[in-house]
Amino acid sequence: MNTKWWKNKIAYQIYPKSFYDTNGDGIGDLKGITAKLDYLKDLGIDIVWISPCYESPLADQGYDISDYYKIDPVFGTEKDMEELIAEAKSRGISVLMDLVVNHCSDEHFWFKEAVKDPQGKYGKYFYIEEGKYDATKDEYVAPYNWRGYFGGYAWDKLPGSDKLFYLHSFHKKQPDLNWTNPELREEIYTMMNWWLDKGLGGFRIDAIINIKKKFPFCDYPADRPDGTAFIVKMVEAEPNISKYLTEMRDRTFALHDSFSVGEVFNATEKEMDDFIGENGFFSSMFDFKPTICGGSTRGWYFNKKLNPDDYKACIFATQRLVSNMGYISNIIENHDEPRGVCRYIPEGGLNNTSKKMLAATYFFLRGIPFIYQGQEIGMENLPFESMDEVDDVSSWDEYEHMLSEGCTPEQALEGVRRFSRDNARTPFQWTHDNQAGFTTGIPWLRVNPNYININAEDEGKDPNSVLNFYKEMVRVRKRPEYEDVFVEALVEPYLEEEPNLIAYYRRGDRHSIILLANFSDELKKVPIKDAIKGILLNNLNEEIISEGNMELMPWQVIVAEI
Ligand code: GLC
Ligand code: CA
Repeated sequence: MNTKWWKNKIAYQIYPKSFYDTNGDGIGDLKGITAKLDYLKDLGIDIVWISPCYESPLADQGYDISDYYKIDPVFGTEKDMEELIAEAKSRGISVLMDLVVNHCSDEHFWFKEAVKDPQGKYGKYFYIEEGKYDATKDEYVAPYNWRGYFGGYAWDKLPGSDKLFYLHSFHKKQPDLNWTNPELREEIYTMMNWWLDKGLGGFRIDAIINIKKKFPFCDYPADRPDGTAFIVKMVEAEPNISKYLTEMRDRTFALHDSFSVGEVFNATEKEMDDFIGENGFFSSMFDFKPTICGGSTRGWYFNKKLNPDDYKACIFATQRLVSNMGYISNIIENHDEPRGVCRYIPEGGLNNTSKKMLAATYFFLRGIPFIYQGQEIGMENLPFESMDEVDDVSSWDEYEHMLSEGCTPEQALEGVRRFSRDNARTPFQWTHDNQAGFTTGIPWLRVNPNYININAEDEGKDPNSVLNFYKEMVRVRKRPEYEDVFVEALVEPYLEEEPNLIAYYRRGDRHSIILLANFSDELKKVPIKDAIKGILLNNLNEEIISEGNMELMPWQVIVAEI
């Protein structure tokens, strides 16, 4: 099959807990998503990815699934999900669910059975190993020194045992599933097909790199004073993931002509081709180059503040790497990251004009643009006043880590303000009414106080709003006669060395465009060799074009046809 029906689509990520609450319990729900489908349709969205809404104890906000076949009652019912899929379909929108199969919840039936009988059938669904005997303590300790993504040992004692440990790359309530076991893989493919048969458009695939493990297990050189080594070292020691992902593709996605987009960090050129090349494991994968740029092992406070040239280097590096090998998925934020406008726009420059500029810069890259909920109205980070306002497990771990690296509590809080995942998880700002119109109750996470000025209802009425600019961008990008340029044409960087300018050409068979973005608060004169045929998009009301030059105002972006 492989029709690539998705290659000219615009996608949107929903974090269900924070999208829209219909029953006043302060938590967004599936009925809330259905209620807002017309809003998404009006925005021009074709594909919606919904972060996990399966039955879950919510230790990691639904990324810990206790029953893959059920919807968590907090979000609704299976019937609500079927209704949502059908209502979306009638508006031409495909729904993706989140596929979380590196791990499940410790409250899943499989794990409960494994605890009862570690040697039995379900014990083999997990990684269970005998600990090391520590004579000084007279007890068994973790078998290997791996540190998980959320801090602490990635091995915890199997409940009821004083000797056996199970592996969890993430939270201790997220035991890793054993992908070497064919029986487990069958269970997963059956479950995926069950959902795909219900009419899903496909899946976003969570943390998938972690299903590969390096055997035999061993200790790795410690990278923290407590003797632990980051688990990524073990994952990276094993190059091969192809067997499982090829099998998954052939047994599930290929049968349904689904869209699949992987959460894959740090892929090499060879891996890019394996993942999203002509015969790749997935349709697409996210570009996380900007996301991870400037990171420090000492913690968020020490991360480099990115300048526009860092950002430019990242997006162009990915475009060069992917070229026309496949379609990357482009983002400026998601539920694991701070708001993109607070990260990529230089300090002091944050305003509606610069938000639109950043939007256009990433939106017209080659690939599938993903908009994360609230991005289209210009939502910003939450100014956390204290750690009491932080819910997220990984933010708490980072906070402790920053303190151990010598930060004062105020500096560590500053790191959290800049990078906490909760920045993007605050409730969607629908109106300027109480709780931003998100709920009639008390929201599970504080509403950003800027909802008075930043909200969908008011922006819908303002022709100059960020929201209306996003609609305009979508409209421009989806013009069918421009598919040759906006879908197919490669990105050719222009004046790459010019500081604070991001500019690129895309030359198609029928149309060609140039995008020019002035990431600074100064006027910028840019030489243009081409005759301008028309302006397709402009975030300000005027354009100054003189003989061979285009003059850009501060934070101006222009997409011109040449
Ligand atoms: C992915 C998810 C993140 C989650 C983790 C563990 O990175 O995006 O939210 O915590 O996987 O499932
Ligand atoms: Ca609710």
